[in-house]
Amino acid sequence: MSVKARSLIVGMATYIPGLRGLTGRRTGGTVSARYCYSVWLRHLSILQRCGLPTTFKTMVELGPGDSLGIGLAALLSGVERYIALDVIQYASDAQNLRIFEELIALFKDRAPIPDEAELPLVRPLLPSYAFPADLLTSARLDAALHPARLELVRSGITNPAPRPRGRGPVCYIAPWRPGVIESGAVDLVLSQTVLEYPPDLEGMYSEMCRWLEPGGIMSHEIDFKSIGMTVEWNGHWSCPDTIWRLAAGRRRHRLNREPHSTHVALMQRMNCRVVCDERTVQPSAITRAQLAPRFRHLTDEDLTTSSALIQAVKLA
Ligand SMILES: C[S@@+](CC[C@H](N)C(=O)[O-])C[C@H]1O[C@@H](n2cnc3c(N)ncnc32)[C@H](O)[C@@H]1O
Repeated sequence: MSVKARSLIVGMATYIPGLRGLTGRRTGGTVSARYCYSVWLRHLSILQRCGLPTTFKTMVELGPGDSLGIGLAALLSGVERYIALDVIQYASDAQNLRIFEELIALFKDRAPIPDEAELPLVRPLLPSYAFPADLLTSARLDAALHPARLELVRSGITNPAPRPRGRGPVCYIAPWRPGVIESGAVDLVLSQTVLEYPPDLEGMYSEMCRWLEPGGIMSHEIDFKSIGMTVEWNGHWSCPDTIWRLAAGRRRHRLNREPHSTHVALMQRMNCRVVCDERTVQPSAITRAQLAPRFRHLTDEDLTTSSALIQAVKLA
């Protein structure tokens, strides 16, 4: 069996009253300004490389985690409004303000994008980590970093708009519910290692596409690995549902185990055209014969795709 004994014990322990809260207390990398700066500039650089828009009025980020830093980096690059939606409120004003000040310094210095040596687990990778000066021109940065605008964002961090329709550059809703954002009100939806969690992925994509105006963009980095719950990086696809349910237990965040092809198919079904699909490929650590019945349909490409950055445009 490929599920680790520790995963089973933790999963079962989540049924004990009081212990569920011990899982998922920290989310990922957004405690670090350099991580947030790197992730945002990686998405932006790849949008440019794929010939997609790189200036946006309203960006929604799904699952910002421990801070709103990725969206704050977007605001410092000229995005006008940032709406963060999470299932749990992890980010605090103090953390967001600290990250914001560190991000301002990084943009003012035109710092190179933190690379694989500094952030070895972060995807997508770039061919060059030089500051994208052709994209973030002096004129664009001067406007985004104007003292009056920085002050506006600071006050938006401590007094975020309570509703997406409200005024102000920052809106943070956690927990969020479908329907919270108007149809066609958004021109960028972005997420970083989030879409491997929602249990109703079809509903999630339908909702995100509804938010987008025609020509609007989705940019999602998705991790398909088993996040250490199994011995093999893709051992979760060999796990029968009964064992997986025990290991997942009532953890705050449970993987949906959907492979790469499901995400691409859903985007296409929701009237989006996939323009960029940067897969990270890793040899499969399990054989086809080991696949659990519900994963027998996985393609060879799915079996070896450990993560992907997928960028798509909403068609008219
Ligand atoms: C692995 S963390 C990644 C956090 C952050 N994006 C980063 O790069 O560090 C996953 C995040 O997704 C959030 N999440 C999970 N399901 C979600 C959903 N259906 N809607 C919004 N956020 C969700 C979690 O609460 C958590 O903040």
